[in-house]
Amino acid sequence: MYSTRLLSSLAAFAAGVAADWPQDVSVDSFVATEHGIALQGALANIGPNGSQVPGAGAGFVVASPSKVNPNYFYTWSRDSALTLKTLVDEFLFGSKALQTYIEDYIHAQAVLQTVTNPSGSLLGSGLGLGEPKFNVDGTRFNGNWGRPQRDGPALRAIAIIEYSNWLISQGQSDKVKNVIWPIIQNDLSYVGQYWNSTGFDLWEETSGSSFFTTQNQYRSLVEGSTLASVLGVPCTGCSEAPNVLCFLQSYWNGEYMVANTNLQTTSRSGIDANTVLGPISVFDVDAACDSPSLQPCHSRVLANFKVFVDTFRDPSLYPINAGLPATSGVAVGRYPEDVYYNGNPWYLITLGAAEFLYDAAAQWSRQGFVTVDPTSLGFFNDLYPNVTVGTYKRCKKSDPFRKIVDAARTYADSFVAIVQTYTPSNGTLSEQFLKTAPGTPLSANALTWSFASFVTMAQRRAGQFPPSWVPTNTTVPVPGSCVASSTPGVYAPATAAGAPNVTQGCTSNVMFVVNATTYYGENVYLTGNTTDLGSWNLDNAQPMLASNYTGERPEWFVTVAMTAGEPVTYGYVRQENCGQPWIWEQLAQNRTLVVPACGNSTAVRLQTDDAWTGPTGQSGNC
Ligand SMILES: *[C@@H]1O[C@H](CO)[C@@H](O)[C@H](O)[C@H]1NC(C)=O
Ligand SMILES: *[C@@H]1O[C@H](CO)[C@@H](O)[C@H](O)[C@H]1NC(C)=O
Ligand SMILES: *[C@@H]1O[C@H](CO)[C@@H](O)[C@H](O)[C@H]1NC(C)=O
Ligand SMILES: *[C@@H]1O[C@H](CO)[C@@H](O)[C@H](O)[C@H]1NC(C)=O
Ligand SMILES: *[C@@H]1O[C@H](CO)[C@@H](O)[C@H](O)[C@H]1NC(C)=O
Ligand SMILES: *[C@@H]1O[C@H](CO)[C@@H](O)[C@H](O)[C@H]1NC(C)=O
Ligand SMILES: *[C@@H]1O[C@H](CO)[C@@H](O)[C@H](O)[C@H]1NC(C)=O
Ligand SMILES: *[C@@H]1O[C@H](CO)[C@@H](O)[C@H](O)[C@H]1NC(C)=O
Ligand SMILES: *[C@@H]1O[C@H](CO)[C@@H](O)[C@H](O)[C@H]1NC(C)=O
Ligand SMILES: *[C@@H]1O[C@H](CO)[C@@H](O)[C@H](O)[C@H]1NC(C)=O
Ligand SMILES: *[C@@H]1O[C@H](CO)[C@@H](O)[C@H](O)[C@H]1NC(C)=O
Repeated sequence: MYSTRLLSSLAAFAAGVAADWPQDVSVDSFVATEHGIALQGALANIGPNGSQVPGAGAGFVVASPSKVNPNYFYTWSRDSALTLKTLVDEFLFGSKALQTYIEDYIHAQAVLQTVTNPSGSLLGSGLGLGEPKFNVDGTRFNGNWGRPQRDGPALRAIAIIEYSNWLISQGQSDKVKNVIWPIIQNDLSYVGQYWNSTGFDLWEETSGSSFFTTQNQYRSLVEGSTLASVLGVPCTGCSEAPNVLCFLQSYWNGEYMVANTNLQTTSRSGIDANTVLGPISVFDVDAACDSPSLQPCHSRVLANFKVFVDTFRDPSLYPINAGLPATSGVAVGRYPEDVYYNGNPWYLITLGAAEFLYDAAAQWSRQGFVTVDPTSLGFFNDLYPNVTVGTYKRCKKSDPFRKIVDAARTYADSFVAIVQTYTPSNGTLSEQFLKTAPGTPLSANALTWSFASFVTMAQRRAGQFPPSWVPTNTTVPVPGSCVASSTPGVYAPATAAGAPNVTQGCTSNVMFVVNATTYYGENVYLTGNTTDLGSWNLDNAQPMLASNYTGERPEWFVTVAMTAGEPVTYGYVRQENCGQPWIWEQLAQNRTLVVPACGNSTAVRLQTDDAWTGPTGQSGNC
């Protein structure tokens, strides 16, 4: 349905008339139709009634209905919070029916905060809040994963604060203060305590410091501080905001934002969609372009955008971009070195590029001028070839100011047109589309984040902007020199919002060690009767490591953060190489232990010395 019309717009690009491209009617109607499809697509992936996700708990956002190749049938803190932020925006723009989803989410997250998981638990040090991913019923996920991820608490706080501000405007301050604030305070505590610690990035691959994470952490602390003063409560962690802001400036390398720093090693350029998605996630239409919060219209952020997009123009990277002129949008993906599914364009990133340009255009329109400096000159040159360094004010219709703003919106539309080309006729948005013709959708289907990114893009294109959050004065300038710091958090279950009144103070690490002679390809897992160990459910057992395995000592081990003081029954199980049945131990007596009392969650407090008891496995020679 969309593809035919699209071909004509692409033909227009190819003919080199993109600079004069009028408001494209086919993009208009595509956006009008797909906005509704995308919103319904996202809602269909949210429990308890989402048609695509039976089994998901109320308020849990499932990443995708896809259960194999890849299995995304989990709830991620990041995707969920970004989706909920989108729903809160839609709610504020008039979709009142979404309130149930928002209330369900708040309740679900209050409970989820208390679920002890492989990153740790809530009480004590808050480490459990850094867990990226849970089962769709809100129970812990034990598999190997890139953890912790420190953007989740910040993004959740941002989404819930936006809704809280609306409640306050409706005279419901008491509800915000007594029911919702404790959830937010846990998350802001986590941000204030761990912003200066490394963690995995939004793509879950790289452990270090990540631009997207730092930028959202800053926003959460600023908004949290404002909300706390409205409610008349203290905000633990919020005083870290200037330090986070200072650190945020450090990602700039003179040409672009290096997406991930403080890495052990890297072979990557640091050019990454991370640095385009961050600015749209902190977008404030009223913010000044030189705000150190690094808005879309900031000159360094614009320069970074050009570096990012131009990287993907290379047809040897993405063949489907061959022949598209430098003035038109292209398909863009995560980062040029990406190998996941062989590295392809992503819907949510190509839509994010469009949203970025609508945002910047809106900010220029709002302030009535565009400032071009040597840093951003290259970006503006693509929009308006005659541009020079200087400030262009809004005056007459024919002014360069207006031409620049219109060109930015036209450029944005051309990214939407790319997505239109590769969207199937039923409007379903997967995670990726193939980088070679015919650009077939691939990886997870009906990705919630793809749908949410369409909705936010469509909002900005239609001139719908979320509430402002950047302080209009500069009470908090960027500190002259940055300091490494951390404020210890205060963590408590948000019981008024429905969280269980957990009292276990913390977790203790137990290292399970078992001698088990295995053949190459066979794996050993730990399972047991507590949620820490997957409650005997092998899909959620703890994978063990063989990195110390030798002929003399066939050792498998795993360190698990476990609820302190808990008595546990556990055992080991073998996973075969070709899908043969798992092999359980055969024990005369169950293995048991009592997790030591807490006190130091980083140290191993108990180590087992076990030997596999029962049948061994045989390769299926597949
Ligand atoms: C889910 O369905 C139940 C029963 O019809 C209804 O009460 C509830 O509001 C629905 N939840 C959402 C988020 O639509
Ligand atoms: C901690 O903050 C300091 C000062 O901004 C910075 O130099 C350092 O790289 C940061 N480390 C991490 C892991 O955030
Ligand atoms: C650019 O400048 C040239 C020379 O001043 C002028 O002829 C042309 O119309 C300008 N182009 C635009 C798009 O304003
Ligand atoms: C939408 O179309 C795609 C591609 O043809 C297909 O794979 C997918 O199953 C369809 N989804 C729905 C919900 O019909
Ligand atoms: C800046 O704004 C904040 C919040 O609106 C206000 O409390 C503060 O007094 C303002 N400071 C200045 C210097 O205007
Ligand atoms: C939670 O448990 C603690 C310790 O048992 C108790 O002091 C507190 O009153 C309980 N809170 C609620 C809301 O029940
Ligand atoms: C694995 O080997 C390393 C290096 O010899 C050692 O430090 C570590 O304690 C071993 N781990 C276990 C579980 O034995
Ligand atoms: C697990 O097993 C232990 C016995 O070792 C028992 O005391 C405990 O109650 C069990 N826990 C659960 C959650 O069933
Ligand atoms: C181990 O515990 C399970 C679950 O409580 C029980 O069914 C089983 O009989 C026990 N096995 C032995 C050998 O005690
Ligand atoms: C916890 O254990 C680690 C590793 O043994 C040690 O470095 C740290 O000092 C301990 N912390 C406390 C508070 O005891
Ligand atoms: C595991 O193997 C090592 C090395 O052979 C041995 O020292 C240790 O006693 C074994 N553990 C058990 C429980 O058999």
